[in-house]
Amino acid sequence: MFATDSGRRARSRISTKSAAKSAPASKPASGKAASRRKPRLRLVPKAAELPLERGGLPPKIARFLATAEIPSPCLVVDVDIVAHNFEELARSLPAARIFYAVKANPADEIVSRLAGLGSAFDTASMGEIDLCLSHGVSPDRLSFGNTIKKERDIAEAYAKGVRMYAFDSAAELDKIARSAPGSKVYCRVLMECEGAEWPLSRKFGCEPDMAADLLVRAKELGLDAYGVSFHVGSQQTDLTQYDKALALSLSLFRTLEARGVNLRMVNMGGGFPSRYRTDVPSIAAYGAAIREALQRHFGDNQPDVIVEPGRGVVGDAGVIQAEVVLVSEKGGDDARRWVYLDAGKFHGLAETMDEAIKYRLLTSKDGGDTSPVVLAGPTCDSADILYEKTDYRLPSSLEAGDKVWILATGAYTTTYSAVAFNGFPPLASVCI
Ligand SMILES: Cc1ncc(COP(=O)(O)O)c(C=O)c1O
Repeated sequence: MFATDSGRRARSRISTKSAAKSAPASKPASGKAASRRKPRLRLVPKAAELPLERGGLPPKIARFLATAEIPSPCLVVDVDIVAHNFEELARSLPAARIFYAVKANPADEIVSRLAGLGSAFDTASMGEIDLCLSHGVSPDRLSFGNTIKKERDIAEAYAKGVRMYAFDSAAELDKIARSAPGSKVYCRVLMECEGAEWPLSRKFGCEPDMAADLLVRAKELGLDAYGVSFHVGSQQTDLTQYDKALALSLSLFRTLEARGVNLRMVNMGGGFPSRYRTDVPSIAAYGAAIREALQRHFGDNQPDVIVEPGRGVVGDAGVIQAEVVLVSEKGGDDARRWVYLDAGKFHGLAETMDEAIKYRLLTSKDGGDTSPVVLAGPTCDSADILYEKTDYRLPSSLEAGDKVWILATGAYTTTYSAVAFNGFPPLASVCI
């Protein structure tokens, strides 16, 4: 159930108090002492259990937190929401094959639930490939989507039956040709990633002209030049970016056709959002925009379509329960309080780098006056500041020991957590 060693150790500390014995999560505790004993949990309305509404804790997570004792900090993931998000995306893009991006959250319960729903998996390493295989996923449902792979890992993946590989360079293509002969390959193309809150540009992909040359070479090397891939950037809320990328994909299909290579697949990566502080389009809106763009550009000759969602499937399904360690002031002109949590940049909140991802926060003191804060983690590294420039306000009465819930943290948190920086254990995680 717990995803880290410390979490596994802590598992024995989960209380089995019956729900009947404990106060309902939605019933506010009275008085300061009571609110310390049992933090108040703000719930979304029952009717909105699925899909998740903004503004509150997912009800199943709230019910769990009201009765279970867990280490702090700890990520709690509602796997039903993961399944719901997957199914909504599948309904919105019925012609696409969904390869869940394992890197977003590789918890066993998530991989196993998605495998049962028919998902395929985008993997970045042998670790992720072995994880999926251990859940009974057949290798024809795996792609080795990292463009930077050791040749011995390519050989091992091939030996285990994986037959689809990404590349964006001549040297990587040569490795695949040598160690995974005859496999399907697709070339990742550089994207600007404009509008994305977590851009994935520059490091991945090559210029379209180079992609065309490499795909011709792939065929010469005896590989199956299957198609092209792009990623419009993670947390991409500008839906026109998919249209741009599909226009580019079509032009590559045409160029390659003229050079004797028939591409058949477009891999659109991820970009599907979680709900952080600003509103985002619905998954249905993404589906409609992508379907229209595919129709506009490819008409009756639709390619095989792959999407690789990570954040959009697991992000909203998770909440980190953290605790205030210290509230202090610095003196001088800046009157803001510094609120130090037991979860920081090194406990899974790495995407607060440059304050890129702006999480929604709830606290056990919500409801009264608020004032501006600088929010930081507990470690001895001055980079461990979550938000200093972004306007965050927290209850003026907040003090050490109070609970803070960091919403929509199901994606890119456990895997980004340091293993022991400053002797703190990695972020614990539990799937419910
Ligand atoms: C190749 C690839 N596919 C898919 C994803 C998932 O992207 P997202 O979380 O935006 O859905 C990533 C994210 O890093 C990626 O690198």
